[in-house]
Amino acid sequence: MILTIENVLDVSAIARFQAALADAPWGDGRVTAGYQSALAKHNLQLPEQSEVARTLGAEIVAALERNLLFQSAALPAEIFPPLFNKYEGGHAFGAHVDSAIRPGGAGGKRIRTDLSCTLFLSAPETYDGGELLIEDALGQQSIKLPAGHMVLYPATTLHRVTPVTRGARVASFFWVQSMIREQSQRAILFDMDLAIQNLRSEVGDEHAALIALTGAYHNLIRQWAEV
Ligand code: NI
Repeated sequence: MILTIENVLDVSAIARFQAALADAPWGDGRVTAGYQSALAKHNLQLPEQSEVARTLGAEIVAALERNLLFQSAALPAEIFPPLFNKYEGGHAFGAHVDSAIRPGGAGGKRIRTDLSCTLFLSAPETYDGGELLIEDALGQQSIKLPAGHMVLYPATTLHRVTPVTRGARVASFFWVQSMIREQSQRAILFDMDLAIQNLRSEVGDEHAALIALTGAYHNLIRQWAEV
């Protein structure tokens, strides 16, 4: 499932992010790439430990903790501290699959990358190219979103970023380890949660069938989750 989550950051947050990132200490993006992806990766990245990356990253994680759509779709166990990249002057990232395990959780904990996230931080009309192309069962999806919107997609997919031929594309990218490792199970739970929420608005909180369905949702999580 490839899911767009709109307005993870609002207009004023985006303005602050853009100002903070304009003169940030950008370095070579290959420092966090695995062997294969280092060959394909041509962009700039903020050092993981830089003050601006840590401060803005914490703000993104806090926004995701409040975002009900993200919580429902990802069922996160761990969120990797967000990283930031910049593509300009022909920068691109060729086809690759993200590394399965990454150190970088709290206290150096390793995180299994179940889901990949890209949070767009530049207005799409300010740059040409820079589409995120993701191969899924339906074919190739091309993603280029307004600033503040995010795409969530399975980390198992082959994906790439097309060359940026005008302007600059700045984004945050990171991974999620889900409590539900298997994506087909995660998709069932997401569908079920959306249906429960729709039903709640139709029949109210106390309808017996809604209570039973909500119970079944939690019992499936109990059966499938690793926490
Ligand atoms: Ni990637």
